[in-house]
Amino acid sequence: MAKSLHLTAFMRPVSLHTGAWRYPGAYADANFNFGHLKSFIQTLERAKFDAFFMADHLAVLNMPVEALKRSHTVTSFEPFTLLSALAAVTDKIGLAATASTTFDEPYHVARRFASLDHISGGRAAWNIVTTSNPDSARNFGLSEHVEHGERYKRAREFFDVVTGLWDSFADDAIIRNQESGIFFNPERLHVLDHKGEEFSVRGPLNIARPVQGWPVIVQAGQSEPGKQLAAETAEVVFAAPRDLATAKSLYADIKGRMPAVGRDPKHLKILPAAMIVIGDSVEEAKAKRARLDSLVHYDSAIASLSIALGHDASGFDPDAALPEIPETNASKSGRAQVLRLAEQEKLTVRQLAQRYGGYAGLAFIGTPQTIADEMENWLNEEAADGFTCVFPFLPQGLEDVTEKLVPELQRRGLFRTDYEGTTLREHLGLPRPANQFFPAE
Ligand SMILES: Cc1cc2nc3c(=O)[nH]c(=O)nc-3n(C[C@H](O)[C@H](O)[C@H](O)COP(=O)(O)O)c2cc1C
Repeated sequence: MAKSLHLTAFMRPVSLHTGAWRYPGAYADANFNFGHLKSFIQTLERAKFDAFFMADHLAVLNMPVEALKRSHTVTSFEPFTLLSALAAVTDKIGLAATASTTFDEPYHVARRFASLDHISGGRAAWNIVTTSNPDSARNFGLSEHVEHGERYKRAREFFDVVTGLWDSFADDAIIRNQESGIFFNPERLHVLDHKGEEFSVRGPLNIARPVQGWPVIVQAGQSEPGKQLAAETAEVVFAAPRDLATAKSLYADIKGRMPAVGRDPKHLKILPAAMIVIGDSVEEAKAKRARLDSLVHYDSAIASLSIALGHDASGFDPDAALPEIPETNASKSGRAQVLRLAEQEKLTVRQLAQRYGGYAGLAFIGTPQTIADEMENWLNEEAADGFTCVFPFLPQGLEDVTEKLVPELQRRGLFRTDYEGTTLREHLGLPRPANQFFPAE
């Protein structure tokens, strides 16, 4: 088959758009209603989506309560609990969960993902995040957030420990010989004994090697250390470029770093996050988006802009240009994107806030044909290997994608009509990693 797209669904919260829960016909309780989530994932599986992705945050959004009270993103299920339940009602679709390297421990993370991979028959993926919300620190005994560079240093060592733990048992270690009474072969067990700058972890993991060898590794950071971590470790990148030019340079940058660290660029799929709004005409799709944006209050809009900037914007003159703002310890790529947008489009603080208040990222707004054209172009231009779909509202926005866009992509040979195999690695065309301590003899 010629080049084709991979599609994942961004499902935490079920829509990122602040106005989503107020859209006519939307399930306002979708984040927290298991029956709805079950029907969403089953619909996505019928459409042959690669994966269902649960982002995660370790605090409520860091915005003033005046804005927070309007946000449906304030509460959502804990990813492992939800994905374990969803694994039981699906067969093929991948299950990607987020776990923080800043506020978690490698032994816990290795166990949870190994378990999810076994429960789901090889469908788990770990979205490695360093956690940009500074309020998270206060939920874990710290008064200040860990410094950005230090977060990434810890993340890199965290990855080595987790993957080392997954390789504790060789694939053939568990022999269960009922006759001899030997359950596993101790010569096929590796005790990690990791002693690094950040972690001291003896091992071994008390879980058999995951079905996929290692669950698929996902990354989203776009800062300098974020891109380097992706090049060294990631197999999927959920980037957030706003336009084709930025996406192309990010794609070339991350993949370009891989040979130097001994990796094949084909073993990394870059799937930019994109909100998809479908209409019977481009005008109708634009009108849907305008209606959705109109449901966002200014208090929410300015709070979202503050988060993106890593700086309180509520005191700025709404009708003036954005003032000079110092760099902060929050997301660096997020801040840089706001400054670029403000400069490119000469937007006032109010206009910028409106953009950020709803959904500020990349959006494909149009008919199934125009959106398929854009996606095809991004694929051919080496800007993306597929997309992380953000739905504008649920359930209709999701059904528009599965019922209208997916068939159009399939008609063009750009998307699978059936799964390639049973594991997420097979869907993504990724090799199963060899055990680093027991390479194939
Ligand atoms: C599609 C996507 C999903 C993300 N999901 C999460 C998440 O679940 N939890 C989280 O703390 N950060 C999440 N992030 C934020 C990234 O981990 C990262 O902090 C952000 O992209 C800024 O990168 P930087 O710190 O390298 O500048 C996500 C980012 C993107 C683009």
